[in-house]
Amino acid sequence: MDRAPGLSVRLKLTLSYAGFLVLAGALLLAAVGVFLLRQGWLQTNEWGSVRESPGTAFVLGFAPTAAAVMVFLLVFGLLGGWILAGRMLAPLDRITEAARTTAAGSLSHRIRLPGRKDEFRELAAAFDMMLAQLEAHVTEQRRFAANASHELRTPLAISKALLDVARTDENRDVGELVDRLHVVNTRAIDLTEALLLLSRANQRSFTRNDVDLSLIAEEATETLLPLAEKHGVTLETRGDIARTSGSQTLLLQLVMNLVHNAIVHNLPERGTVRVETTVRPASVVLAVENTGEKLPPGMLSTLTEPFQRGTERVHTDHAGVGLGLAIVKSITQAHDGTLVLAPRAGGGIRVTVELPAASPHAGS
Ligand SMILES: Nc1ncnc2c1ncn2[C@@H]1O[C@H](COP(=O)(O)OP(=O)(O)OP(=O)(O)O)[C@@H](O)[C@H]1O
Ligand SMILES: [Mg+2]
Repeated sequence: MDRAPGLSVRLKLTLSYAGFLVLAGALLLAAVGVFLLRQGWLQTNEWGSVRESPGTAFVLGFAPTAAAVMVFLLVFGLLGGWILAGRMLAPLDRITEAARTTAAGSLSHRIRLPGRKDEFRELAAAFDMMLAQLEAHVTEQRRFAANASHELRTPLAISKALLDVARTDENRDVGELVDRLHVVNTRAIDLTEALLLLSRANQRSFTRNDVDLSLIAEEATETLLPLAEKHGVTLETRGDIARTSGSQTLLLQLVMNLVHNAIVHNLPERGTVRVETTVRPASVVLAVENTGEKLPPGMLSTLTEPFQRGTERVHTDHAGVGLGLAIVKSITQAHDGTLVLAPRAGGGIRVTVELPAASPHAGS
């Protein structure tokens, strides 16, 4: 924004300091003058000397000194005010400088004002905190974009390799080539769809309806039953009616992702999965629990990050992209809920999603 140039704050402060000093001096002199005039003559003045002369004569005699004092006060006020205001406002320069550096694209700069806490230090600290958060966010976005591009390139590179080989191979098996290309292509589509879903959940652009989590849980487990059977996993669903407000599609996706994970990241055989919904005073809770291998400590906290995969997927036929839990997290956040991953004592994990309960008067 372009504004007309005005007085600097330093100059304004200086003028006010000097103004007040001169005003106080003038008031004091005026008070003395009034006092002396009222007396008619002087008996004792402030400096202790005793003089017997009419008040007016004294005031007139004192006038040059008074004027000198006033000039001194003015100069003193201007000079002192300029220096004081400069010192007071110095931190502002650093804050402005930092804002300019940030605007120029550098997010790593910090103000770090030394000294004891005051308004400027608090402003600088808040600014530094904002910068740190911005920087973390931008870094995360960049990492995400890099990972997404990398993941999207993989199926394309595989297709190209398959086509290259087929082109030079005289006795190529077209049927097999088509099958393999189909698998690779499906994977690329799944990945793109997961990315789209993630961005949709992040934008919170969906309509909210009254939905029952227990019904959604049932639908998800029913759909995934064949997969569970294939993996030799028993599925168990139970729980109360748990009404919340949100997107039916997104919440179904959330439960599907969790149950899917619970099936494919389970024990190689005879695993179990338990899906449960419970109602709390102000919220509803969905818990998905599964048997499985013990996860290394510290790993749980990273699993919800995009493209984070566990180590054990070599022995499963499930080649995940590592977006499932990131999507769950985004959908939970978009519904103002909380997501907690906790290890189970015997191995496997328990994932809990807590969402605000639907208001009792909302229609379903
Ligand atoms: N229920 C679970 N039990 C054990 N490990 C799990 C469970 N859910 C997730 N994990 C671990 O967390 C990792 C990340 O899960 P996430 O769902 O985000 O990705 P993915 O399942 O590998 O791929 P996809 O994007 O296809 O879901 C998994 O690779 C797995 O190692
Ligand atoms: Mg998954």
